[in-house]
Amino acid sequence: MKKTLCLYYSRTESTRIIMEQIAKDLEGELVEYTDGKKRSGALGYLSACIDSYRKPPQIWPLETKLPLGEYDRVIIGCPVWAEKPCIIVEGLLAQYGDALPEEVYFVVTHSSTKSYDKRIEKLDQYLKSPHRGHLSLSTKKGSAAKAVAEFVEELQ
Ligand SMILES: Cc1cc2nc3c(=O)[nH]c(=O)nc-3n(C[C@H](O)[C@H](O)[C@H](O)COP(=O)(O)O)c2cc1C
Repeated sequence: MKKTLCLYYSRTESTRIIMEQIAKDLEGELVEYTDGKKRSGALGYLSACIDSYRKPPQIWPLETKLPLGEYDRVIIGCPVWAEKPCIIVEGLLAQYGDALPEEVYFVVTHSSTKSYDKRIEKLDQYLKSPHRGHLSLSTKKGSAAKAVAEFVEELQ
């Protein structure tokens, strides 16, 4: 069994619920990453919009059981904000990208039914080697559960 770390940021729980499922299916450890800023409600939405055009924020220390390099793989979940993976994931990768193992996957949730593949690929700039796979997941599509199940199956 691979040692799997599932990291997630979630403003309104959609990404958290999906990452919980993935961590459960892969028997991985689930850990939240955050910059500590509260973004609930309409004002929180507005502040997330504004933050999307700022520099990546400082992320709180990750409360993982092992040092990051000791996991076999890391799966990173985040929502799309302003047409790209949210600025919080950029903060995470700017801070911890070098410490991650080579096997990295992204799970990016969004309300639009289009795919954010190209924008996800741009996150590779923060990694030692290109990410191994990703899921660009529309939470509006009825097929979200199926897409998650297929993603998990490929990693099993
Ligand atoms: C500030 C902000 C900007 C967003 N921009 C987009 C966008 O450009 N495209 C899109 O499909 N969804 C966009 N969304 C919707 C979220 O990506 C989507 O609801 C996501 O699944 C929320 O995940 P969460 O519940 O884990 O925070 C945006 C949400 C917020 C808060």
